[in-house]
Amino acid sequence: MAELILGQVLSFHGDPFIEGADAAKVETNGGVVMIGGEITATGPADQLRKDYPQAHVTDYGRALISAGFIDSHVHYPQTAMIASWGKRLIDWLNTYTFPEEMRFADPDYAAEIAARYFDLTLSNGTTSVCSYTTIHPESVDAFFNEAQKRGLRSYAGKTCMDRNAPKGLLDTPQSAYDDSKRLLEKWHGVDRLSYVITPRFSPTSTPEQLAAMGALWRDNPDCLMQTHLSEQPDEIEWVKQLHPQSRDYLDTYEAQGLLGMGAVYGHAIHLTEREIDRLAEVGASLVHCPTSNMFIGSGLFDMEGLVARGLRVGLATDTGGGSSFSMLRTMAAAYEVAQLRGTPLHPSQLWWLATQGSARALHAEKKIGNIAKGMEADVIVIDLASTPAIEQATRRAETIWQSVFPTIMMGDDRAIKAVYVGGQRR
Ligand code: GUN
Ligand code: ZN
Repeated sequence: MAELILGQVLSFHGDPFIEGADAAKVETNGGVVMIGGEITATGPADQLRKDYPQAHVTDYGRALISAGFIDSHVHYPQTAMIASWGKRLIDWLNTYTFPEEMRFADPDYAAEIAARYFDLTLSNGTTSVCSYTTIHPESVDAFFNEAQKRGLRSYAGKTCMDRNAPKGLLDTPQSAYDDSKRLLEKWHGVDRLSYVITPRFSPTSTPEQLAAMGALWRDNPDCLMQTHLSEQPDEIEWVKQLHPQSRDYLDTYEAQGLLGMGAVYGHAIHLTEREIDRLAEVGASLVHCPTSNMFIGSGLFDMEGLVARGLRVGLATDTGGGSSFSMLRTMAAAYEVAQLRGTPLHPSQLWWLATQGSARALHAEKKIGNIAKGMEADVIVIDLASTPAIEQATRRAETIWQSVFPTIMMGDDRAIKAVYVGGQRR
């Protein structure tokens, strides 16, 4: 049966970083028709009511209808330890992250946190995520089981580390290869699930392990590969000591076959010119994690400079280094980071990053992250007056972006009125 939802429909027919705010279109009295998990029509509400007289209709009034948010870099196992006080990255990883990740050897605990994680993200309007797990295959199964139950397009892979972590959190080059291969064969392409080859980062992998991951990627080139790159100066210094043969941080990956289109690098704040040139040359993706970068004190991502180089850039919470499950809060943080660099982002650019930008970073922009005919029907409905503070700030709005921006800056899960996954209301 056709599901017709009505409201102010936001879609993109271009890239607002290239074409400006005109790349976005808002149909004020618009609608979206969803049939069999797909968006089959969009347009003026009156027309759609006529064309689909049998449809089940829900009128959301002045609410904004958008593609669901896409969080392109998260660590679902860090759900329960989000907002843990720490000094800097390595200290924070050792104090909170690694002890928590040890617990995922227990499949019941992994299932409990995976379920909790998806409940939290869905209530925040996030319909797709790309997640790290832990070294335990059980943590990957838990993630995909819960994603599959909810019908979500989801990405994840076994996090591989063979040094500089507690004993219970170490694999080996061979076991990392074997486990990753088995999990890839089990989950990749099943329903809406994709396996992502996931060496955690160069400080916790030997060159031998990175090479094993490179070999696995070479044999499975339609998988994405995700890892971390140049998040903090101390980390980069440590990478130099651990990988003395490498020209720079990126080279630790490049030398082992872990650079290419389909590589997704989290953070990428303190890059050298050579690294930027190589990333641009191969068409790699970067993921900006602004709440995390401020929370762990990492630095200010150069959105303007890197987008200008043609790199695919996604937006992400980096749960639990990030301090929120909300992509609205994450857009606000991206705005603030850009302001600190003197390069403000337009609300259309922020919204694009949280939908199409992240989809492009994951090479999924033809399937998710936009409202258009033929796209998968992951759709959210946003109340643009969800709190008294936001409501009063929108009263003077003369343009759609003036009425959306207070929700970007001050909104949270209370703004999420409805979430549709594959055309089904959650
Ligand atoms: N670098 C390697 N692992 C992590 C992690 O779990 N969180 C963040 N923010 N950075 C990392
Ligand atoms: Zn991360």
